[in-house]
Amino acid sequence: MKYNIASLPGDGIGPEVAEAVTAVLDRVAEKFNHEYNVQQYLIGGAAIDECGVALPDETLAACKNADAIFLAAIGGPKWDQSEIRPEQGLLKLRAELGVYANIRPLTMYPQLQSASPLKPEILAGTDFIIVRELTGGIYFGDKKRVNDYATDECKYSVTEVERIARVAFDLAMQRDKKLTSVDKANVLETSKLWREVVTKIGETEYPEVELHHQLVDSCAMKLIQSPSEFDVVLTENMFGDILSDEASVLAGSMGLLASSSVGSKYGLFEPIHGSAPDIAGQGVANPYASILSIAMMLRWLKLSDEADAVEQAVSKAIDDGILTQDLKPGSGISTSDAIGAVINNI
Ligand code: IPM
Ligand code: MN
Repeated sequence: MKYNIASLPGDGIGPEVAEAVTAVLDRVAEKFNHEYNVQQYLIGGAAIDECGVALPDETLAACKNADAIFLAAIGGPKWDQSEIRPEQGLLKLRAELGVYANIRPLTMYPQLQSASPLKPEILAGTDFIIVRELTGGIYFGDKKRVNDYATDECKYSVTEVERIARVAFDLAMQRDKKLTSVDKANVLETSKLWREVVTKIGETEYPEVELHHQLVDSCAMKLIQSPSEFDVVLTENMFGDILSDEASVLAGSMGLLASSSVGSKYGLFEPIHGSAPDIAGQGVANPYASILSIAMMLRWLKLSDEADAVEQAVSKAIDDGILTQDLKPGSGISTSDAIGAVINNI
C-alpha cells in the first residue's frame, strides 16, 4: 500500500528526532512492501521565522491531505517574547484536525528500571494509559488581559466529555476494565459536569468497567506512591498535560513516551517531550519516543504487524544498551546511533 505522511519537525531537537520518521518508514516499507511518501512542513517557531505564522496554511492543508501526521516538538526561548507563540501552531492544528483524544501509554521497559528514581518494588506491575482530552478546557477558552487582570476561561460541554469518556471506556474494555477519571470536582464546575457525564456513560454503556473518580491532587500523589494501581486514566486537557509529564518519570525518561491524538478523521502522532532547547543541535536527543509514535501511527493505519516490528526493534535496541544520555549519562550514544540500531533490528 501507498501512504502519504506529513512530518512536522518543528523546533529545538524536533528536526533531529524527526529524522527517524523517514529512516524507520523506509525500512518498514522495504520489509513489508509498502510505500511511504514522507513530506516535511513548517510549524511552530520555524514557521514563525519563515512565514510569520505558527501554522502556515500550506502545512494545515498538507496535514488534511495526508494519511497520517507526525509532529516532533515545538517552541523554545527564541520565541518567548514573540507576539505569536510557536505553541499556537500546535493548538490550532489539534483544533483544526479535531483530534480530541490524546492517548499517552506508559510503556515500562524492565531493562530500564534503574533509570527511574522510584524503587523497583513500587514500579513493579506498572502499566497504564493516560487518555487526555485535547481540544477543549482551559487551553481553548477565551483568554483576556484587561489592565491588571488576566483570565483564562475553562469550558466543557456534555458532548465533549461524552466522546472522550467513550474512548477511555473502550480502552478499559480491551484492558483490565478499570478506569480512573481524574477531576477537581470539589472546586471546579467543569469537573462536576465531567464527573456526572463520565458516571452516566459508565452506568449506561459500560457497566462491566470498574470506575473510580479521583481528585487531581491526590492522583498526582498516587502516581508516585502506587503507580501499579492505575490502568486507564481519563482526564481533561490541562490535568492530562501535567500528569503525563509526571508519569514519564516512572518510565525513566520523557524521551520514551509516545502519543497519538485522534478524532473522527485524522491522526496526529507526537512524542510527549518538548523541544529541549538545552540539548538541541548536539545530536544527542532520544529518538525512541518519536519511533514509538510512528509505531502508534502504523497501528492506527491498521498495520499492526508493522507496528509490532517497530516496537520490538526499539525494545531490542534498549536490551542491547543503545541508550542516549537521558537514559545513560555519558553513554556517547547519538540520536543517529539509536535510530540506526532500531532500523537494523526491524
Ligand atoms: C504537550 C505539550 C503541549 C501541550 C504544548 C507544547 C502546547 O506540552 O503536548 O504535552 O501543552 O499540550
Ligand atoms: Mn506537555
